[in-house]
This record gives sequence, C-alpha cells and structure tokens, in this order.
Amino acid sequence: MHQIIDGKKISAKIKEEVKAEVALLKEKGISVGLAVVLVGEDPASKVYVGNKKKACEALGIASFEYLLPESTSEDELLALVEKLNADKAVDGILVQLPLPSHLDEKKVINAISPDKDVDAFHPVNVGKIMIGNYTFAPCTPAGIIELIERSGISIEGKSCVVIGRSNIVGKPMSMLLLHKNATVTICHSRTKDLSDVVRGADIVVAAVGRAKFVTADMVKDGAVVIDVGINRMADGKLCGDVDFESVAPKCSYITPVPGGVGPMTIAMLMKNTVAAAKNKI
Ligand code: GUN
Repeated sequence: MHQIIDGKKISAKIKEEVKAEVALLKEKGISVGLAVVLVGEDPASKVYVGNKKKACEALGIASFEYLLPESTSEDELLALVEKLNADKAVDGILVQLPLPSHLDEKKVINAISPDKDVDAFHPVNVGKIMIGNYTFAPCTPAGIIELIERSGISIEGKSCVVIGRSNIVGKPMSMLLLHKNATVTICHSRTKDLSDVVRGADIVVAAVGRAKFVTADMVKDGAVVIDVGINRMADGKLCGDVDFESVAPKCSYITPVPGGVGPMTIAMLMKNTVAAAKNKI
C-alpha cells in the first residue's frame, strides 16, 4: 500500500514552528522582515507574491511589498535592491522571477546581498550549497528534503534519481541529497536509457516540467516518488510530472499534485527568512 505524503500538513507544521521562533525572537527585541519585489503584471506571479505576503502576516513576519510597473528600468530595480540591502528591517529579499525581458535576471540576483538572499539564487549561496556550508537552501529542494525526512524515510545510502537539471530545482536538489549521503544520479533530456536509470532508484524526484512524464513502467516497486511538476492541463486541472494514477500503486510513498511539494515552498521561504534574521544577531 502506498502512502500519500501530505505537503499541506507538513508545511502547516513547519509554519507553526517558524511562528513560534518569530515570537521568541520578538521577545528578545529582534524583528523579522521579508521584502518581495514584483515587476510587471504576470497573473501567476501576482498570486505567488500575494500568498507570500499572507504567509508573512500569519507568522508575525513583517512584509514589505514592492509592486513595480512593467516599465521599471534595470537601474531603478537595482537601486531598490541596494536600498533593501541596506535596510535593517529587511532580513530577506525575494525578487519574483521571471522578470520582464528587458531586465537582466542574473544582474539583479547578483545585486542581492548574499546574507538576504532567501531564495539562495546568488552565486555565493550556490557555491556554499556545493561545499555543504550554507544558511539558505533553495526553497523547493529544501522543502523536498523536509517532506522525505518528516515522513520517516531515511535518505542515507539510497539510490536517488533526480530528473531535471535546472538551477532552481535539479542541481541544488542533487547536492542536498548528496549531503544526506545518498548516491545521486541526475537525468536530463540527453540521458540515454532514462527509464532504466529511473527504474534503479529508491527515491525519484521528478522536475522535468512535462505532464505525466514518469510512468509506472519507469518506477521500481516500493520506490519513493516526489513530483515537483505543476502542469496545467487542457481541462484547467493541475497535473504533475508523474502519472499519479498508474505510478502510485507501485510506490511506498508518493507526493500528490496539488498538495505535495507546492505548499512546502512558502514554508521554507519563511524558514529561510527567520534564518537570515538569526544570522544578523
Ligand atoms: N518564481 C517562481 N518560483 C520562484 C521562486 O522560488 N523564487 C523567485 N524569486 N521567483 C520564483
């Protein structure tokens, strides 16, 4: 029998823990603040930014929201980042991606102080993750580690296959699993015999961005399957990178979409913001 890993429940528990930590810091006279910057009118980004603000308010974290017009110049955005870098009330800075095409994402990420980079996208933080000495891990991979460990699954010594090599999920995910003493394989679009590789995995993390990419024949009996995909189907429903219906009966544990990895991202963002506040003490 497979068990469903409940991301809503686990993220709610983490948020409770963060709320308690924020309250403790407040008693010591330390405030916690997150600045979120959105440039333009992308509807999905607006929803994400709104959710981040709500989460901050629920946990006692001060939220500073900057909703900038599409016409914002790179110099204006960089000036805001500089201002936030210097602001003592701001512990974390998140610039919502993707940015409009006239703005250079790399340049903007590089301008954020690594100490306030709660996304862990700055090259300094990426390097720290590589050597295993870090304050922030990117929210989605860090959330996946929490999902696995809080479900009582041991990672050490396991064969883990990560499908996808993005800078936001695949690459840092592989590093975090490696730091937990897993044997890690990264698969991508040029991988030969991908199905055979995935079939050898005790833990599969699917982050390909293709609906129902992982099918039952690719998964070994008793595997743990983590689905990072969020694909919108023609009927408007959300679907993961895993063909849940056929794969679930073969698994020991599996995450659903929605309600698996998704809810963890904001919880980990809140956790990183508190870590940044503690770091300044
Ligand atoms: N856009 C989609 N996901 C993310 C994220 O985790 N961080 C940022 N900054 N932008 C995003």
